[in-house]
Amino acid sequence: MDDDEIMVHEDETVSIWTCRYAPDVVFAPHEHRMGVQIAVYRGAEVEVLYRREPGKLRHGGNHLVRAGDVARLGPQAIHAITADGDAPSIAIHVYEGPLTRIKRALFDWTSGEKIEFSMENFHAMARRKQDMEEFRG
Ligand SMILES: [Fe+2]
Repeated sequence: MDDDEIMVHEDETVSIWTCRYAPDVVFAPHEHRMGVQIAVYRGAEVEVLYRREPGKLRHGGNHLVRAGDVARLGPQAIHAITADGDAPSIAIHVYEGPLTRIKRALFDWTSGEKIEFSMENFHAMARRKQDMEEFRG
């Protein structure tokens, strides 16, 4: 495994995870339906941002979160996720609610159609960074 997401705490109000991402793999666009604070402490994590439009998922830019930075995504955010550069990123993600107890969605990379969130689907939909438009230019 070159990725690693571990839940270290969850209650009614907060979910705390440590997340390690490899720079060659991009995990599929998804929602959280709650805010999340992303505190990176090794490498740099890339938030690949999207918005849904009728029949498609539109790329809204990449946001780099470097070691020592804390970024917040709001409850409506849709992101795919990877690491920047040559090394994995490692971060603490603090979700502002009980993440595993809510229904949320993955989104088809092209059509933006909702797909039920499961770790199995999340991993199955991952893409190679080298194959993605979002990382060209
Ligand atoms: Fe996420």
